[in-house]
Amino acid sequence: MSDIDTLNDELLSKAQVASENAYSPYSRIKVGAVVVGRDGQLYSGCNMENASYGLTQCAERNALAAAIAAGEQRGSMKTLLVYSSEFETLSPCGACRQVIHEILADDAQIISCSARDEPKSWTVEELLPDPFCLD
Ligand code: THU
Repeated sequence: MSDIDTLNDELLSKAQVASENAYSPYSRIKVGAVVVGRDGQLYSGCNMENASYGLTQCAERNALAAAIAAGEQRGSMKTLLVYSSEFETLSPCGACRQVIHEILADDAQIISCSARDEPKSWTVEELLPDPFCLD
């Protein structure tokens, strides 16, 4: 097994744990995400819903917020893995794509895993071509 496979296994199991902690009483969809920091630290997030539905926070953005809160810099993170057992393979929502574009490294890989199908992966550019940005 390569280092990449070993890392991805670790990311997957951490994302699965995070997904089990999801607060999603409305959709009942549980999503977990893990992002790898500059020195290999892992930061996880899960989706968190609210009775005011529009306040729902996705797992990917919560993982990125945890990384930023711990001192990670924009552009330093090269891998984000998202997991949900409910989808064949979850495709990150538009809001997450915008945030992923701004925070992850340009050459980052975004991986989506599911209990039901093969993993998929994208580059930042593939997820959000021609993005809105201010720099
Ligand atoms: N969700 C995520 O956590 N990430 C995505 O990329 C898509 C959707 C969550 C939000 C909500 O709690 C549930 O999945 C259904 O939309």
